[in-house]
Amino acid sequence: MRPFAAMAGAVLLAGVAWANSNGAQILFSGAPGEANCSACHGQANAGPGSLQIRFDGVVNWAPGQPVRVRVTVSDPNATRWGFQLTARAASNPDQMAGSFRIIDNTNQLRTSGDKQWVTHTLTGTRAGTTGSASWEVEWTPPASAGFGDVIFYASGLAANGNGQNDLGDRTYTATFTASSGTPVTGTTRVLPQLAFGSSSDLGNWATAVYLHNTTSAPVQATVRFFGVDGAPLTVPGLNASSATVNLGPRSTGVVEAPNAGPLTQGWVQVESPDGVIGYAIFRQALQGVNPQEGVVPFSSSSSSGATIVFDETDYVTAVAVLNPGSSAVTATVVGRDAAGAEIGRFTLPLNPRQRTAFVVRDRPEMTNMRGKRGVLEFSVPSGAVSVLGLRFNGLAFTSILPAER
Ligand code: HEC
Repeated sequence: MRPFAAMAGAVLLAGVAWANSNGAQILFSGAPGEANCSACHGQANAGPGSLQIRFDGVVNWAPGQPVRVRVTVSDPNATRWGFQLTARAASNPDQMAGSFRIIDNTNQLRTSGDKQWVTHTLTGTRAGTTGSASWEVEWTPPASAGFGDVIFYASGLAANGNGQNDLGDRTYTATFTASSGTPVTGTTRVLPQLAFGSSSDLGNWATAVYLHNTTSAPVQATVRFFGVDGAPLTVPGLNASSATVNLGPRSTGVVEAPNAGPLTQGWVQVESPDGVIGYAIFRQALQGVNPQEGVVPFSSSSSSGATIVFDETDYVTAVAVLNPGSSAVTATVVGRDAAGAEIGRFTLPLNPRQRTAFVVRDRPEMTNMRGKRGVLEFSVPSGAVSVLGLRFNGLAFTSILPAER
């Protein structure tokens, strides 16, 4: 009796698992004419999370050149995940665009006629994972640029992990429009300072990232926000941790992290073709004081060092230091006085994508800089480091731009 009951249980589980936790049936990607996961799960786009579709490392697609497409579902409350993705001609949503190829065991292909859908596998539901889940698949674009724009459609599920299709699961949908172009590898630059939101003693903060396309061709730039610990940071207003900005010839755009929620700090990464210029402004508004603003220039994401000139005669120097890379680094910081003599030195270990900020003279190794002028030299033996200085004069401040190496 017992072996039979166990087997029946296994068969039943397998049958149920096929239903959805082992991949969604086709026609639930949210493409025109298709439903999305909310047909059986919770309401679409009503929760605190989001779904994002993007290419890895490139902005546009090039005929026949495979690119990786990444789908990310985020939701603070979910513990199990799923998605369905398809690609269609912008001119005709019923026409498949290019083709998908599976590259790992977290997702699988479903086919009907000449259409393809990619969906999660049982492994790909990442049971127990909180915050967000991503899947990657290879996509080979159409053979000719004449195909025109491609729209990726995805529907994703941020589930509560109870093994049911219930209202405790949240559905998110999104689209991503990709144009053909010469394969432009995005240049990645960083802004080591980001602050938005309010705190009772530090006031109200907001940051705006300005971008301009100096070229005569349309381009796309992607602006990504990260927390001080290097994790993607959801920005209020955007309701996402990144934004894609379409910049026509010689046009200008802005992405804002507004004053909303508690004071949050971090940094920004900008991926764009060459020819896109810009900077960020961060603003602090304190009750009864004129708002203060500082400029954050784009920094290289690959420079091995930077020098900042300081003046501690009447002012206080703070720095924001970022490891923009994906390996841990240890930065060495050397202080020199106006005559070039060393007046202090310390090391700063930084995890991948970690950003730290501090008042330099508060470091025990740096107390000698008080009352002096000179420089702070930051360097890493391998990997990269990005730095922004801040100079305070009472309540007023300005940014100190680094000279990068
Ligand atoms: C036709 C109804 C139906 C649709 C549409 C549907 N599901 Fe489901 N889903 C179910 C059922 C039934 C279950 C519970 C059985 C199981 O786990 O397979 C489930 C369970 C799940 C689970 C596990 C949930 C948990 O809390 O443990 C995930 C993940 C999932 N589905 C993803 C998706 C995604 C992603 C889509 C849309 C692309 C989708 N489903 C669309 C019926 C559906």
